[in-house]
Amino acid sequence: MQSASLRLTVIGTGYLGLTHAVCMAELGHEVMAIDVDEDKIAKAARGETPFFEPGLEPLLRKNLESGRLRFTTSFAQAADFGQVHFLCVGTPQGADGAADLSYVFAAVDALAARLGGQCLIVGKSTVPPGTARQVMDRARTIAPASDAVELAWNPEFLREGFAVQDSLSPDRLVFGVTSEWAADLLRQVYSQALVAGVPALVMDLETAELVKMSANAFLATKISFINAMAEMCEAVGADVVRLAEALACDDRIGRRFLSPGLGFGGGCLPKDIRSFRATAQRLGVTSVADLLSTVDAVNLGRRNRVTELARATVGGSLAGKRIAVLGVAFKPDSDDIRDSPSLDVCGRLTQEGAIVSVHDPVAMPSAARINPDLRCAATVSEAADGSDLVLHLTEWSDYRAIDPVALGSVVARRAIIDARSALDAAMWRAAGWDVLMLGQP
Ligand SMILES: NC(=O)c1ccc[n+]([C@@H]2O[C@H](COP(=O)([O-])OP(=O)(O)OC[C@H]3O[C@@H](n4cnc5c(N)ncnc54)[C@H](O)[C@@H]3O)[C@@H](O)[C@H]2O)c1
Repeated sequence: MQSASLRLTVIGTGYLGLTHAVCMAELGHEVMAIDVDEDKIAKAARGETPFFEPGLEPLLRKNLESGRLRFTTSFAQAADFGQVHFLCVGTPQGADGAADLSYVFAAVDALAARLGGQCLIVGKSTVPPGTARQVMDRARTIAPASDAVELAWNPEFLREGFAVQDSLSPDRLVFGVTSEWAADLLRQVYSQALVAGVPALVMDLETAELVKMSANAFLATKISFINAMAEMCEAVGADVVRLAEALACDDRIGRRFLSPGLGFGGGCLPKDIRSFRATAQRLGVTSVADLLSTVDAVNLGRRNRVTELARATVGGSLAGKRIAVLGVAFKPDSDDIRDSPSLDVCGRLTQEGAIVSVHDPVAMPSAARINPDLRCAATVSEAADGSDLVLHLTEWSDYRAIDPVALGSVVARRAIIDARSALDAAMWRAAGWDVLMLGQP
C-alpha cells in the first residue's frame, strides 16, 4: 500500500464535505473543495467555517496556509485537478420521504462533462441502494473518456460535534467498489488510518450504500426503543434512567444511544430513516418499512409529550405563559438546527400562545432565522427571567453547571422539565424547584 499524497476534490462543502476536505489535507493530500454556494466558498477560502464544529476552523486555517487545501466554484478546475473526486452534496428528504437525489445527479453531471482522463468518483453522501449504479451510468454516459471513469461508494459515519476526530480516526472504512483498482486507490487515500489499524471493509456498491442506511436505522431504533420504555415507565411509575443503566450493563445492549429524552433530530437520522422506509416500501420489504414507521412515530411522539407536560405544568393552557427554553441545537456541541426537536417544541408552544425565550450556547443565530416569534436571550438567566416554566431541551454540558438557587431567584415559578434526563434532579429539588423528568417518578 502506497502512502503518497493524492490530488483529491471534494464536491459539496457542508458539514460532511468541508470536514472531509480539511481532514484529507491534514493527512497530506492535495485537496480542492468545490461548492455551488459562492458565499460558502469565499468564507472557507478566508479560513472561516460556515457552521460550528469543534476544532475544524484552526485545522482549516492551517491547511489553507500549508497550500494543500484550496477552494473553487469551477467544475472545470476540479475535473482537471482530481485523481479522486468525493461527492459530498446533500441528500435531503424529498417527496414521500424518499431522498432527493437531484443534488447528487447535478454534481456528477457537472463534473463528468469535464472529465478528460482516468479518475475515481467516490460517493460519500448517504443514499438509498441503487443510487451508486445510477451515478456510475450517468458519469460514464456523460464523460468524454467514459471507460476511464470508475465509481466507488464510501459512506461517511462522522458525528457532528466530533467530526474532525471521526474523520481523522474513523472506527471503520467501508469501500463499495466494482474493481480492485478502485479499492487500491481508496486504500491509498486512507493509508494513514489503515496503518493505524482502522478496518477497511471492501464490498459491492449496494451493500456499502445499505451499511450506512442500516447503521442509522439501528441507532434511531435504539433511541426510540428507550423512549418507548420511558412511556412504559411513566405508565407503571418506574424509572427509565435506572432501567437504562441496568440494560447498559449487558454488553450485547451497550450504553450508547440509550439515553431517554426528547428523541433524535438533525440533518441525518430523521431523513435517513424516512428515505430507507420509502426504499423498503418501493421494494415491498414491509418488515423494514413497518419497523421504521414505528421508530419515526415514537420519536415524533416525544415532542408531543413534552408539549403536553408543559401545558399541564402551567395549568392547562400555554396562552400568555412565559417559557424559557434551554438549548435549540438538535444536539449539544453543534449549531445544527435541522429538524431540531427543541425548535419543533418551541414552534408548538408559540402556536398555543406561549411567550418563548430561548438560549443556546451557539445555535441562536440560526434559531432566530427559523422562528422569528422566539425571543433570543444572551444568557440562561435572561431567558429564564420571569418565566413560568423552564424547559431543558438540548443537553449542553453548560446547563449541568447552572446554579438552581441563583436561577430560582429570577423565575416567576420554580418549575423545570428536564426533557434530556441530564440534570441533577436532587440538587434542583433541594433548591425548591418542581422537577419533571421524562419517564421518571
Ligand atoms: N452532517 C453529517 O453529520 C453527516 C454525516 C454522515 C453523512 N452525511 C451525509 O452527507 C451528505 C451531506 O450532508 P451535509 O450535512 O454535509 O449537508 P449540507 O447541506 O451541510 O451540505 C451540502 C453541500 O452541498 C452543496 N451542493 C449542493 N449541490 C451541489 C452541487 N451540484 N455541486 C457542488 N456542491 C453542491 C451545498 O451548497 C452544500 O454546501 C448527506 O447525504 C448526509 O446525509 C452527513
